[in-house]
This record gives sequence, structure tokens and C-alpha cells, in this order.
Amino acid sequence: MIYLDHAATSWPKPPEVMEAMRRFLECAGGNPGRSGHRLSIEAGRIVFAAREALAHFFGLDNPLRLIFTPNVTYALNTVINGYLRPGDHVVTTGMEHNAVMRPLRALEAKGLQLTIVPCAPDGTLSANDVVRALRDDTRLVIVNHASNVTGTILPVGEIGALAHEAGVPLLVDAAQTAGVLPIDMEAMHIDLLAFTGHKGLQGPPGTGGLLIGYGFDAGQIEPLVRGGTGSRSELELQPEMLPDCFESGTPNGVGIAGLGAGLAFVQKRGVEAIRAHELELTRRLVEGLRAIPGVTVYGPEDLELRTATVSFTAKGMRVSEIGFRLDEEYEILCRVGLHCAPAAHRTIGTYPEGTVRLAPGLYTTLAEIDETLAAVEKVVAR
Ligand code: ALA
Repeated sequence: MIYLDHAATSWPKPPEVMEAMRRFLECAGGNPGRSGHRLSIEAGRIVFAAREALAHFFGLDNPLRLIFTPNVTYALNTVINGYLRPGDHVVTTGMEHNAVMRPLRALEAKGLQLTIVPCAPDGTLSANDVVRALRDDTRLVIVNHASNVTGTILPVGEIGALAHEAGVPLLVDAAQTAGVLPIDMEAMHIDLLAFTGHKGLQGPPGTGGLLIGYGFDAGQIEPLVRGGTGSRSELELQPEMLPDCFESGTPNGVGIAGLGAGLAFVQKRGVEAIRAHELELTRRLVEGLRAIPGVTVYGPEDLELRTATVSFTAKGMRVSEIGFRLDEEYEILCRVGLHCAPAAHRTIGTYPEGTVRLAPGLYTTLAEIDETLAAVEKVVAR
């Protein structure tokens, strides 16, 4: 089997991740931050260590400004629904995922004003186009770090610098880049960073988070959910301190233990080495697909402007048929269709049919890419 669906979730997970999860359940299965007994304290220690390591990884010294969430969608919704009010103006891009578009569209129906900056057909956009869309009443800029359809990397640092000059905070959706591209919130002028744990960071599903930069007053965000936090139990009002304010209910301790181990694995291997490996795979994949008659590859020509997520279509063939045959006949696993990102497919001109998406990852080899290219060539030739 060849697994090329890392943009949906990375697989297999490093053995260290499974071992950390097993150990958590076996030796530290208490409720973190609640009871005072040894199992609870040990669970709390593991959760805090992961919080600290992740915050540092993204360039924040203060781990309390990292909120664990079940996924990146929840982190994005925390900001979009908790910070924005009817009448606010928001700027976003034509390459966003539905994790951004759906909550924004729902708020738009209640009076939010939305400007969607169009991207070029390869998904790229200029930071100046984003800035030109800013208004006096703009409260937030939201951008995808890299597209889950074409892998196109947006110039987040440049957008952040220009947005800050205009006094507007920046929220970044790092679903596709956390663990595969370097991210430094301070250097890239990111105020709010939403990430998932189960893709590039190699953690299990059910993990993710939101980081709140030092320049952003977290008190401006209303929590999505209120309840027990293990702290200030005497209060019937939600505590205001971070991260408790946004972390009601028993956390996914076992998942966070796995995420901590996933991050340690990524750091041991090195983000730059991972990026170099993925670029090599992407080069072989893009060049090979382009050489197959009838195949159109989407995304930027310049490989430096993309992650290892490659979308293509083949003349005269349904993408569902290509995906089905790759799976059934060659055991090559990928994702076809609209990838929960209809806006991005409209931008690149593949709506409503979508594309076949091949997304290699950490463990993918060049030999697997060559096998995939040979399989695509045969499927498409038929
Ligand atoms: N958003 C994920 C994907 O692109 C699940 O497949």
C-alpha cells in the first residue's frame, strides 16, 4: 500500500507516538489539573510539557498562551465566533478551507462584512492585494498558510507585517504547514495561530490548538464553551485566566501525550530536513505528472512556493474514477473531489468536479512516487 493522503491525516504515526499514548493510559491516566493524586499530577505534567514544547516550537515563550482544542477547525471557530461581531469587516483569501469559510459565511448572514481577496489560478496572491482590501473598520485578516488543495504557500510574514502597519491582527490557518514549514509567530507577525496535531506534527486525531500572540488581548475572545476547568471551582463564572478560559471539560490527555511525542519526533528529524525531503518528493511527482499526456497539474510552477500537496486532473476522466482505480488496482491511497475547500477549487478552475490530490509525507519514498506515476499513467491511458 502507498499512502498519499498526508494532507488529510499523516499515517503511519511514529512508533514513539503510540508508545506515549499507551504509557499515558497505563501510567498517567488521571484527569489533568483536576484531582490532586499522583495519576492526575502525572497527567498534568505530560499535558504541560506538550503545551510548553509546542508554544516554543511556534516561537512563543509563554505556554499559557497555547490553548488545546480538538482540531484546527475548533481553533479557527474559537476566534471567528468568539472575537468577531456583526458589522465587523474581515479580509480573507480565495484559497480558504471551509473551516474558515463556513463560520465566516454564517456570520456574514448576521451582518459581518467580508472581503475575499482573489488569488491567481495557481493559488498565489500578493500581500499588497490583501493590504489594499483593508478598511478602517477591518478587525481581522485570516489567511491559509498553505492550501490543502494545491499546496500553494501564501506570504504570511509579509501579510502580517503589512496588516500590523495598518493595526489589524492576523489569524493564520496552519493546518497544512505545522511541522512541515518553519513557523515563528513573532517573526511572521502572526497574532493568532490555529494548528492541527494529526498532520505534519504526527500526533493523533483529536488534537490541535490555538496560540495567542503577546500583542493580542485574549480577553477580546469569548469562549465557545464554558464549564469545568479544574481551576477556581468556587466560581460559577468562567475563569478569565489562560488557558483555562478556553479549555473547559476534560482534555484529550492521551491525544496530547501522543502529540507531544509527535512534536519531539519532528524536532529530532528537523523541520528543515522534513521540508527538504518533501520538496524532493514534490519535484519528482510534479515533473512526472506533467509528463503524462492529458494530465493537468495545479499550483505554482515554483516548487519553493508549495508544500507536498499536488492536485491534478486528467482529460476525459472523472477524478472519482481515477481515485477508485488507484486504490482498487494499485493500493495507492489519495483523496479526490473538493477537499472541503470549494473556494480554492473555484480559484483554480476545478469546481465542481474537483481534483485528484496526491499528498506524500515524512515516510514516503521516491520509489513510491515512481510507482504512483507509473500507476497514474496506466489508469489515465485507459
Ligand atoms: N482538510 C483535510 C483535507 O484536506 C481533512 O483532506
